[in-house]
Amino acid sequence: MSDESFWNLYWDTRLQYLQGQGKGQAILAASRLIRRNPTQPMRILELGCGEGQILGALIEAHHDMANIQESIGVDYDPLALETAKKAYPAIKFMHGDFTDSEFLVSLGKFDLILLVNALHHVFSDAFDEELGEIDVPAGKNAVLAAFQSIQKCISPGGSILLFDGLEAEGDLQRMLEIRFLHDQAHQNFLQFAREYQPFRIRFQTGSAKNSIQLSVHDFTRYVTKMIFLGKPLWSREKLESYQYFIKDELKEMFYRHDLSLMEELFISVDVQRWQDEIEILSPDFDFPIEHILMIGKKIADPGG
Ligand SMILES: C[S@@+](CC[C@H](N)C(=O)[O-])C[C@H]1O[C@@H](n2cnc3c(N)ncnc32)[C@H](O)[C@@H]1O
Repeated sequence: MSDESFWNLYWDTRLQYLQGQGKGQAILAASRLIRRNPTQPMRILELGCGEGQILGALIEAHHDMANIQESIGVDYDPLALETAKKAYPAIKFMHGDFTDSEFLVSLGKFDLILLVNALHHVFSDAFDEELGEIDVPAGKNAVLAAFQSIQKCISPGGSILLFDGLEAEGDLQRMLEIRFLHDQAHQNFLQFAREYQPFRIRFQTGSAKNSIQLSVHDFTRYVTKMIFLGKPLWSREKLESYQYFIKDELKEMFYRHDLSLMEELFISVDVQRWQDEIEILSPDFDFPIEHILMIGKKIADPGG
């Protein structure tokens, strides 16, 4: 069995519990990167590591290629960290805020930084009470400022893996018409529109039976949150906008910091579930891309 086939089989079995979640792709991409990296053992940092599933799985699989003593998972949620520490006692998990540049400097440099489903939290934290919504320019600036500090922790020649939501292209205020395929789908949408906090969701009755009209902006948020409605995670998910930057803004953020783009993947795992709930009636519009995965490599000597 080739090395690649072995790892495909290993991760197929190991990641079954993720049940096709997009972040499984982030683990696969990071595993490929670790295996192909000449700098071993690698020092890995996961920012916004939550319960440590990603860092834990990678270090368990690649304990001979990762520097376990020097790798770190960071989160500001003490409960998540407690779970991570119990699940992976050999790994160092630290309480900290990855938007705090002094804290990041104190961690040193890493061969690989993982930012999986974490940066959109920074955008969502720019919720403005007075506005009643996220202050979009402030949120975007906060993401850029956080990334500027984060990328300083990459060793020359090291890499960063970003996995997150993706803002739709084009006119976000363009109106779409969608039809609910069953009553529960309609009820789910009404709950979403009532409870989603980052932006006020505006909609009006559509021209077809069981249909509504809403903007591309609100539609993309609705479909990517749909899977959490009625689940315990909804209480947290309803506070976060998964989308913040379009593809070119993310690329620009990489290039600005001498990160050459080694891999770019667009991943949508929930389209079938969306299609079971709604039909898009507007022509020339399809379901959005759910996640983007980008790997950037720090150019060792940008001037030379
Ligand atoms: C959606 S979870 C993802 C966890 C993990 N990366 C995964 O994919 O399994 C995002 C995590 O980022 C953490 N987080 C968000 N903003 C943070 C910040 N500024 N500093 C530290 N942790 C943060 C949250 O507490 C949460 O545990």
